[in-house]
Amino acid sequence: MTKIIELKGDDQKLDEILFEPAKILREGGTVAFPTETVYGLGGNALSEISIDKIYLAKGRPSDNPLIVHISKLEQLDMLASEINGNAKILMDKFWPGPITFVLKKLEAVPLKTTGGLDTVAVRMPMHPVALKLIELAGVPVAAPSANISGRPSPTNSSHVIEDLYGRVDCIIKGESAAVGLESTVLDVTEECPVILRPGNITKEMIEEVVGCCKVDPGLKNKELAPKSPGMKYRHYAPVASVEVYVGDTMSFIKRAEERILELALSEAKVGIMAFDEDLLVIKNLIKGQLEDEVSNRLVFYCSQGSSKDLTSFARLLFESLRECDANFCDVILIRGVDEDGIGHAIMNRLNKAASGKVMRI
Ligand code: TXA
Ligand code: MG
Repeated sequence: MTKIIELKGDDQKLDEILFEPAKILREGGTVAFPTETVYGLGGNALSEISIDKIYLAKGRPSDNPLIVHISKLEQLDMLASEINGNAKILMDKFWPGPITFVLKKLEAVPLKTTGGLDTVAVRMPMHPVALKLIELAGVPVAAPSANISGRPSPTNSSHVIEDLYGRVDCIIKGESAAVGLESTVLDVTEECPVILRPGNITKEMIEEVVGCCKVDPGLKNKELAPKSPGMKYRHYAPVASVEVYVGDTMSFIKRAEERILELALSEAKVGIMAFDEDLLVIKNLIKGQLEDEVSNRLVFYCSQGSSKDLTSFARLLFESLRECDANFCDVILIRGVDEDGIGHAIMNRLNKAASGKVMRI
């Protein structure tokens, strides 16, 4: 049985409400909880039994290491053996927050937690519930995203319930995730940090603080293995087949119109994920060409917010992929973005969701 704990935004009682889930974690159980990036599925990072439960619940390959979550800096002493100067500066600047640091691990961290690697990934989340839960548990908390392996990461509690109800000991229901994409994973074992998974804390932001930041070439080059094992798996994938188009507004609108009409002929249902401005035009174009009954049945529109603010695209991305599935879309057409700033992380996830079907138009 999965225990569901509902948060009603009353911080006063957080200690009381989180007492039981913290106990479950301490005693080796699994608890799904909100963080600012996506929901996580937590277990005691130092207990092999807990780690086994996490892998089992998610159906996750055992060579894909977990991120260990902490609530205070001192907890690093039981996890990591070396922390260089730049790593310290970056932790000071971005923690608590949506960034994970890969460090040389200490022996106490089970190889099961790190997928057999001699490094450990550590994050101090910013979300008050996550921080309080880890603090009360009194142990470092390993937490991958709280989805079935391969599915889009969960950005609200219904996604978690959909994937993990009956498979974990407890689910904490909080608000929707503010960021919506998983944390930046940054290898800081060398002085010049390397991005292994792009996220909300961007290359530009890291360079501004320490003057240097590389991106793992394995993220782009299919001949090279990515340094972060998780990045090699098909991921973030809805059931529908995904097509991503990168180009200017007019080209996207034209392509979306063509594809909708083409797919409607074969009775395929299409999800369109695009900016509000694009959707308005596409809806009008389609109105003139498909009967209302047909377009209501075969076209599903998902807003990614305004093109002027890519943070809403990031926040809505996984939710929209899941909504398209829930509405039985056969194909999802998505407007891609430029790969700078947060666009780097968005395109990384879209590439995976689309299994590389990203077209320049
Ligand atoms: O925002 C997040 O990071 C969320 C929340 C819950 O904190 N967690 C999350 O965990 O996204 P997960 O397990 O879904 O992704 C962890 C990523 C994987 O790509 C994994 O391969 C990589 O981090 N990773 C973990 N340990 C690593 C290590 N020692 N070296 C390289 N990559 C590592
Ligand atoms: Mg994940």
